[in-house]
Amino acid sequence: MKNTTSLLSVRKVLSYPHPRDEEIERRVKEITQLGVFYIVPAGDISIGNFQILGKGCTSIVVLTVSKYGKAALKIQRTDSNRESCDHEAKILKTANKIGIGPRLFSHTDNLLLMEFLDGKKISKWLSEKILEGRQKVLARVLRQVLEDCYKLDLAGIDHGQLNPAKKHIIVKDNGYSTILDFESASTNRRVANVTSVSQYLFLGSEIAEKTCTILGSNRDIIIDSLKEYKRNISRESFEGILRNCRIIH
Ligand SMILES: Nc1ncnc2c1ncn2[C@@H]1O[C@H](COP(=O)(O)OP(=O)(O)O)[C@@H](O)[C@H]1O
Ligand SMILES: [Mg+2]
Repeated sequence: MKNTTSLLSVRKVLSYPHPRDEEIERRVKEITQLGVFYIVPAGDISIGNFQILGKGCTSIVVLTVSKYGKAALKIQRTDSNRESCDHEAKILKTANKIGIGPRLFSHTDNLLLMEFLDGKKISKWLSEKILEGRQKVLARVLRQVLEDCYKLDLAGIDHGQLNPAKKHIIVKDNGYSTILDFESASTNRRVANVTSVSQYLFLGSEIAEKTCTILGSNRDIIIDSLKEYKRNISRESFEGILRNCRIIH
């Protein structure tokens, strides 16, 4: 009986929120094409009684065992307004070339198979480290996040969803951070990765004031350095931000 229930739940996950038989069959074929062997219940949230890694506006993300080992499978929601995963796959591939984002393994029209990021959402990670007073670890990881955003700025890829960044940066258990979800990313927009993430981390979110307090940084001088960076994107202006946030000295 239990098996029957979980099979039903997996069907729901494959074609969420409107499970239709022919769509499910199509997606099962796509999953096989990708080299996925199992979908594994794991994560903080559930659909029906099946645990998943995440749920966004366009997708459901589940843990799988695949020919690449453990992998995260991003499944397009049936009510998503995008036609396919092609755009996201293309930009993620470009980001991977400069060492950003979860590694893309493969994709089909509705599915994207990528590296599984085993860690915490940055919002949760930040709250914990702030509470523990871990100033050095905080500065180290935030530097990584900002350096990745700077790389994206230089590469001309605008992520588009880094303010707030709560669900789009994962801090892995090995202490490394990764930016995810390139679904709304663009190579045609003016880049605003460093400025958006700084807005979230230091200026405009529920966590920002506490981050500034623990790092000993001042809001007004951070704003000045962000303005300078916007005027002129360079290593010098970027390091001005790191200094003013008291991430480097
Ligand atoms: N590679 C991954 N490894 C682990 N968890 C992931 C991965 N990709 C996405 N997630 C989780 O799933 C959630 C939704 O994924 P996301 O790419 O943001 O979907 P959407 O495009 O629908 O917003 C993320 O916030 C994250 O918690
Ligand atoms: Mg998202």
